[in-house]
Parts: sequence; C-alpha cells; structure tokens
Amino acid sequence: MTDIVATRRDAVLGIGINRPQKRNALTQAMYAAMTEHLAQAERDESVRAVLFHGLADVFTAGNDLEDFAERPPHREETPVFHFLHAVAAAQKPLVAAVTGPAVGIGTTLLFHCDLVYAADNARFALPFVQLGLVPEFASSYLLPLLAGYQRAAELLLLGETFDAKKAYETGFVTRVVPAAEAIDTGWREAAKLAALPPKSVRVTKALMKSGHAEAVRGQLAAEGEHFRTMLTEPAARAAFAAFLARRK
Ligand code: COA
Repeated sequence: MTDIVATRRDAVLGIGINRPQKRNALTQAMYAAMTEHLAQAERDESVRAVLFHGLADVFTAGNDLEDFAERPPHREETPVFHFLHAVAAAQKPLVAAVTGPAVGIGTTLLFHCDLVYAADNARFALPFVQLGLVPEFASSYLLPLLAGYQRAAELLLLGETFDAKKAYETGFVTRVVPAAEAIDTGWREAAKLAALPPKSVRVTKALMKSGHAEAVRGQLAAEGEHFRTMLTEPAARAAFAAFLARRK
C-alpha cells in the first residue's frame, strides 16, 4: 500500500495520503490502511499524536467516486465505516494539515480533529447533496453545532466550494498558514502536543468530546443508513456517471 504512507517523527505518527494521479481520492483499501495505522497509534504508548496530511497541492478529493459507483457498500461493516468510528473514538490527539482541495470526507474528517492547519490554498466542499447523497461522518450533527444552523445549511445543502478563510470563520480550522508551510506547521504543532503530559492531553480531549460522543455515534449510524440506500438510487448514479464521463 503506497497510497497511504505512514511516517514516524519521534512521538508523532504522520498518516499521509499519497495518490496524486487521482487527487488523493480514497478507496476502501486506503481507509483500511488508515484505520490500521490509527489502531497501532492508539496501542503504541510511544505515539502521542497523529497527523493527517496530503501532498503539497491536494489533501484529498474525497471518496473515490468510481469505487462508490462500482462497489457501493451495502452494510455497516465496511472499511470506510471502521475508519469513521476509529477517528471519532480516537483517544490520542489528531492534527490535520490541509493543502489544496479537501472534498467530502476531506472536510468532514476535520470536524473530528483537535488541531487543523489550513493552507491559504485549501479549498473545502461538502457536495453530498449535489451528488444525490447525504452528509457523513456525523457532519450533519457537528457542523450545525459548530457554525449555527443556517451557516451549516448553506455548506451542507448547497455544497459549494469555500476557501480557508471561510473555513476558519466557520470554526473548524485552527489557523490559516501560507501553503508552503502548512504540512511543516502540522508536524510542529503535533510535536508540541506530543511533548505535553500524555494523560493530561488524553483526558482533556475526552472531557471536551464526551458531551457529544453518544450523539456522534447515533448520527454516524443514521447518516450511514441513508447514505447506503441513496448510493444506489438514480440521483447518485447519475451524478457519479456524469463525473466519470468527463474523464479524459
Ligand atoms: N474519485 C475518483 N477519481 C477522482 C476523484 C474522486 N473523488 N477526484 C478526482 N479524481 C480523478 C479524476 O477522475 C481524474 O482522473 P483521470 O486523470 O483518470 O481522468 C484525476 O483524479 C484528476 O482529477 P481532476 O478533476 O482533473 O483534478 P482537478 O485538480 O482539476 O480537480 C477536484 C480536483 C478534487 C476539485 C476534482 O477532481 C473533484 O471535484 N473531484 C470530485 C470530488 C468529489 O465529488 N468527491 C466526492 C465527495 S463525497
């Protein structure tokens, strides 16, 4: 698996998305690899923070639409669902460095991270409704909570692309940084977390997240049910076909 590259720098584990030819679109195998790295990080006491990053010009184009069209998940027990749960339940701090496009799960993943550094070239989008789908990763719960209902509704219903400044104002970006510095900033800030007393970091994170943990789990399940049904319905099938038809 070279599409996901794990790198260790002292007490920080970097999970790098590395599929440039498909703009880092995520396949089932890539979700499975990321879940495994997260599980190892949770088990390994010497890992004290995890950094998600992409390449210099792309974080991720979101779920691989060809995969969705050809292999729509029919049940909850799928690699993507395991990944969603592993991230939502992670006890160790999660940092993200976002460069270029961060589409779909590339944006919703950030709602679960503890520190998010966005490059000034980062572009976010939640195009689920445009694709005939519904939001995932508990984003239909977390975004209204974060941004207020109407601002969340604009992002989740219209699904238009927005920039790093708007992401910062929406509340899920810690800081906007120059594009060339974003990934280094992620490593540096993750190293700061890793240098702090690990139990204090873990318990503080758990205390901040505990009030919403049950609701997040419930929303993951509810969204997942709608999502799986709608993946095979005409609106989604037409949207996937339209995207794949524009390929060279
Ligand atoms: N799934 C599968 N393939 C994807 C993909 C995705 N989500 N996103 C991009 N690709 C592929 C393209 O099909 C193209 O492949 P090809 O060279 O074999 O034709 C290649 O990656 C490059 O994509 P392209 O659209 O030319 O890159 P871009 O830099 O102009 O645009 C994006 C980047 C991310 C803005 C654009 O690719 C995009 O909108 N992708 C779809 C995003 C999406 O809807 N994700 C699902 C969310 S649930």
